[in-house]
Amino acid sequence: MKSPRAYGLRLTWLISYLLRRSEDARGLRRLGVLGRRSDIWEKLEWVTREVAPRLRLPVDLNGYFREEDREGGKLRGFPGGSIWEIEGIFLYGIARALRATVIIETGTYRGCSTRHLRLAVSRNGAGRIYSVDLNPATSTGFESDEWVTPVQSDSVVWLEANPRLVRQCGLFFHDSDHSPEHVGREIRAVWPNLPPGAVAVCHDVCSPAHNPPTGSGTWSAFGDAVGGQAYRLDFHPLSDCGLGIARKS
Ligand SMILES: C[S@@+](CC[C@H](N)C(=O)[O-])C[C@H]1O[C@@H](n2cnc3c(N)ncnc32)[C@H](O)[C@@H]1O
Repeated sequence: MKSPRAYGLRLTWLISYLLRRSEDARGLRRLGVLGRRSDIWEKLEWVTREVAPRLRLPVDLNGYFREEDREGGKLRGFPGGSIWEIEGIFLYGIARALRATVIIETGTYRGCSTRHLRLAVSRNGAGRIYSVDLNPATSTGFESDEWVTPVQSDSVVWLEANPRLVRQCGLFFHDSDHSPEHVGREIRAVWPNLPPGAVAVCHDVCSPAHNPPTGSGTWSAFGDAVGGQAYRLDFHPLSDCGLGIARKS
């Protein structure tokens, strides 16, 4: 007679096989078949090697990542709508490398990206994150503390009312309303005022839902608003969202 462990292993294998057949990558991630830490490091190494020189970022960007950090991501302690873990780790690395003292993000939600950014500024030993969200009902993730100031407002209204902060902002992260109209308005409210060397990052530049094959989408709106000097980071299959990134010269 087989042991319960042997049955368990067979069942895991069967579920993983069926999910693979149905190409449900999300299901595989839930099982931990995809999205292991080793997959994340491998992908990040490749991505940072590709983009770091083009963005004048340190090529050893990966040196900031720590194996023991578990800030999480979508399906790793955070609900759908949050960023994926690999994107959070990448954002963390950028924030550490830039040593930005003012970071602005739009779209707090449950605070997944905020947690990664917060870890970065706390390890840098300086910096403040302004995390702007329209909806207090969804953005329950963060209280104000020494590193984070949650702001309840429409992002464009707040950005236009705070040009002084935008002029000091070293890292801007868009993750609010991904409609091309809103992305365009938001990025145009910050890009001209960001200081030289500042980086703007835009979530969801790869997902089909926000980037239809024809017409405009999140990626084209971001690229247009930064004057065409953006790169698209595709973390597939560890994320189906992706990050757009541009650096102010
Ligand atoms: C995709 S979620 C953000 C996820 C978050 N960055 C994370 O990693 O957990 C989008 C958030 O943007 C907010 N939002 C939508 N439109 C907005 C606007 N015009 N201004 C500010 N926030 C907005 C929503 O309330 C929602 O909480």
